[in-house]
Amino acid sequence: MPAVVLIGAQWGDEGKGKITDFLAEQADLVVRYQGGSNAGHTVVVGDQEFRLHLVPSGILYAKTVCVIGNGVVVDPQLLIEEIDGLEARGVSVQNLLISGRAQILMPYHKRIDELEEERRGDYKIGTTKRGIGPAYMDKIGRVGLRMVDLMHKDVFASKLKRIVEEKNHLFKQVYGVPGFDYEQLLEDHLRYAERLRPHVTDTSVVIDHAIVAGKKVLFEGAQGTLLDIDHGTYPYVTSSHPIAGGACVGAGVGPTRISRVVGVAKAYTTRVGEGPFPTELFDELGNRIRQRGREYGTTTGRPRRCGWLDVVILRYAARVNGLDQIAITKLDVLDDLPHIKICTGYRYNGEVLRELPESLEALAGCEPIYETLEGWQQDITGVTRFEDLPVNAQRYLRRIEELTGTPISLVAVGPKRDQTIVRGEVY
Ligand code: GDP
Ligand code: IMO
Ligand code: MG
Repeated sequence: MPAVVLIGAQWGDEGKGKITDFLAEQADLVVRYQGGSNAGHTVVVGDQEFRLHLVPSGILYAKTVCVIGNGVVVDPQLLIEEIDGLEARGVSVQNLLISGRAQILMPYHKRIDELEEERRGDYKIGTTKRGIGPAYMDKIGRVGLRMVDLMHKDVFASKLKRIVEEKNHLFKQVYGVPGFDYEQLLEDHLRYAERLRPHVTDTSVVIDHAIVAGKKVLFEGAQGTLLDIDHGTYPYVTSSHPIAGGACVGAGVGPTRISRVVGVAKAYTTRVGEGPFPTELFDELGNRIRQRGREYGTTTGRPRRCGWLDVVILRYAARVNGLDQIAITKLDVLDDLPHIKICTGYRYNGEVLRELPESLEALAGCEPIYETLEGWQQDITGVTRFEDLPVNAQRYLRRIEELTGTPISLVAVGPKRDQTIVRGEVY
C-alpha cells in the first residue's frame, strides 16, 4: 500500500511542486490536503514553466488522478482560472477531483484578509492576502460553505443569504467599508458551480479504493512545517496543517494507511512574510543566494528572505512529521560558494539549545551556532548520479543525513525533471 506523504520541511517553497511532479510520473493519485491558493508550486517541463496554486502538481501527467481534498480551502474563481490556464496550454484537467467536503473560499474572505493585515500595521503576518485565515476561521467557526452546498442551488442560496448579512454587518460596523451584494455573489457562484460540478465527488472514497487496490497515492503538502498552525512559528504561520498528520485529516484517510513520509528541504533556508528566522543572511551573500536561487514568491512575487541551512529546524521537521526520508532541492544554488555553513544549534541566554524553542520571543533571540564546510565551486546542474557529485557536495549531503538522522533519497540540482538524482526508493 504505497501511500506517500510529501511535506515541506521548512517555511514553504522548498520545491514541493518539482518533487511532486517528479514522483507523479509513477503515481496513480496526487492529493492536496490543506492550504489553498496561498500555495505556489512550480513545475518545469522542458522549456515550459507551470505555477500551480490549487491544482495538484500531478496534473501534467494525463493518467494521474489529481484530488483536491476536504482540507483545502477552494477559491472557485481562482480554481476555474487555473483550469482554464492549464487547458489553454494543452493540459487536460479531466482527471481532477474536488472533495464535496472542501470549504469554499469566498470573496469576503479575501477582503477580510486584506483589511486585517492593514489593521495589524507593524504586527502584520505578511499573508498572501488570498483569504486563507478568514476561510479557515469560518470553517472552525462552523459558518463555512462547502463544495457540496454549492452543488445544491437552494441550499447554497439560503446559507449564503444568512452569511452575507452577517459579513456585511462586520464590514460596515467594524471595518467601515461597503459590504458584498448577495445577488451578485449568488449569480457568480451558481455559474462556478456548473463549471466545477463534473469534478466534485466524495474523494475520501476514491482515495481509499486506490489504496486498497495497491495503487500509488502521493499526498502533496503545501506550505511547510514551520508554517503549521500548531507546530510552526505561531503566529507567523498559515491557518492549516501542512505537517504529515494533516494529510489524514485533510484527505480523509486513516494514519494506518500511510506508508511513508518524505520531507522536502532546500539546501539552504528561505521564508516569505514576517517572523523570526535565526539563520537569515542580511548581507551580500543573502542577495547572492536570492539571485542565484531566483527566490521571489511564486504567488505574490515578494523577495524571499534567505539564509543558511538550519538543521535544528530539519530535526524538528523530522520529529513532528515522522520523516522517513529527505529530498534536498536547489543544491546547485550553492555551486559557487567557497564555504557553506550549517546551523547545528542555537545560543540563547548563555545556553545552547538543540531543539526549536516554543516561545517565539526566544526564537527571535536565538543566535545560530554554525559548522563550516568546504564548498565545491563547480557546476552540478548536469549531474545525474550521487557518485558523480563533487566530493564536497557529497560531504555536505552526508553531514545533513548525520545531523538529522534521516536519509536523503532525492537530490535536485535544477528545476527540470531530469535534474533530479535518485538515491533511494520513495514508493
Ligand atoms: P514549492 O512551493 O515548494 O513547490 O516551491 P516553489 O515552486 O514556490 O519554489 C521553488 C522554486 O525553485 C521554483 O521556481 C522551482 O522551479 C525551483 N527549483 C526547484 N528545485 C530546484 C533545484 O533543484 N534547483 C534550482 N535551481 N531550482 C529549483
Ligand atoms: P507553498 O505551498 C511560503 C506564508 C505567507 C505568510 C504566512 C501566512 O508555495 O510552499 P497565509 O496567506 O497562508 O495566511 O500567509 O504563510 N505562506 C507561504 N510561504 N510558501 C507558501 O506556500 C506559503 N503559503 C503561505 O507568506 O508568511
Ligand atoms: Mg511555493
